[in-house]
Amino acid sequence: MSLTLAEAGRALASPAAYADDRRFHEALALLRRESPVHWVEAAGYNPFWAVTRHADVMEVERAHTRFLNAPRPVLGTAEYDHMNSERAAQGAALRTLVHMDDPDHRVIRAIGADWFRPRAMRALEPRVRELARRYVDRMAELGGECDFVRQVSVHFPLYVILSLLGLPETDFDRMLKLTQELFGGDDDERQRGVTLEEKLAVLLDFFAYFQELTQARRAHPTDDLASAIANARVDGEPLNDSDAASYYVIIATAGHDTTSATIAGGLRALIEHPDQLARLRADPGLMPLAVDEMIRWTTPVKEFMRTATEDCELRGVRIRKGDALLLSYPSANRDEEVFDDPFRFDVGRDPNKHLAFGFGVHYCLGAALARIEVRAFYEELLPRLESIEFAGEPQNIATTFVGGLKRLPIRYTLR
Ligand code: HEM
Repeated sequence: MSLTLAEAGRALASPAAYADDRRFHEALALLRRESPVHWVEAAGYNPFWAVTRHADVMEVERAHTRFLNAPRPVLGTAEYDHMNSERAAQGAALRTLVHMDDPDHRVIRAIGADWFRPRAMRALEPRVRELARRYVDRMAELGGECDFVRQVSVHFPLYVILSLLGLPETDFDRMLKLTQELFGGDDDERQRGVTLEEKLAVLLDFFAYFQELTQARRAHPTDDLASAIANARVDGEPLNDSDAASYYVIIATAGHDTTSATIAGGLRALIEHPDQLARLRADPGLMPLAVDEMIRWTTPVKEFMRTATEDCELRGVRIRKGDALLLSYPSANRDEEVFDDPFRFDVGRDPNKHLAFGFGVHYCLGAALARIEVRAFYEELLPRLESIEFAGEPQNIATTFVGGLKRLPIRYTLR
């Protein structure tokens, strides 16, 4: 049955809708075609404009003083928005880079920016490659069959990011659980609890852990990213505990499920498109293009939000001061006006102007690292891979924010 525009709009506020790739993309295609800046009223959510065209997402992101990240940087229920505004009024809200605007954003972003420059990232490459090899070896140890998500792809990027932060390997399991509870928060299987209090408890766990880390790195500075954050100065003053903890939270969370979803979604795409897998194996020089195509294809970050600071127009639609706008990255990355045959998975796609890392002043700080990780993993895996197929139905996570596969059962032979 075909969707109405209102139903298509509401899909953007329905975690379950995101888990059904075909239906979800049908809804996005309809919005792009018929109502690219569309007013959405969905039960349980404050209303918002859904922005689904590539050019419009870029226009909103470019106008970063007209469209702010605060106070509603990601889509949450009305209850969640209300709780956040109460906490903000008490000065107790989570305040990461994605919650900030200039001038604070520029100053705080600069603290981590040096760490994430492509040149600095290249120095990390041998360590990333070593970890990638460890996980391909792990696939071999698993004896030719595994759930690739649970046993491989969630672990590798977390190891990378926690090594970068300088955390001990003994803490990795705790971090894995916390990041999944925070990001997979809409999915029943990953939820710690259903109440907002229980969700908040996850955040408080994070804060407590990182507050301790800040104290430790101030007492004994090392050369890791955690020390850079703990000992950073803004206007001559150290970051307060809450801002430092927020920094760790954004790095540990943003750097994990996103890359993991790309690696798993990329593998699924290669299994579903054996011609593309064969092409990539025959021509490994395509790897950088293939990595970006995997990122476009999976688009693990489903949305960020902005709030208008003044009355204005977008694609001829009147936006009022205070209105919220949802930037739909999966939609922008299938925009027929920008991508030649957007529903074709093409490991040689060039150009590939995807917006999976966003655009403008909030452009993903970890983009260079994410590309290195995905590339290292596939450069380790493909030369050893003799055969691969599904060993069960792949399953997506139900979430409106960061998502991808929850399960990817595979059977394979490795050299
Ligand atoms: C921001 C996507 C990996 C750290 C973002 C944004 C997107 C995104 C869409 C928001 C951009 C905007 O508002 O314009 C992705 C994807 C990844 C990935 C698709 C993997 C394929 C990483 C990694 C790290 C990271 C590995 C760090 C280790 C961040 C940070 C921000 C961010 C710190 C906030 C930047 C700011 O607000 O100034 N990312 N990301 N991300 N990402 Fe990533």
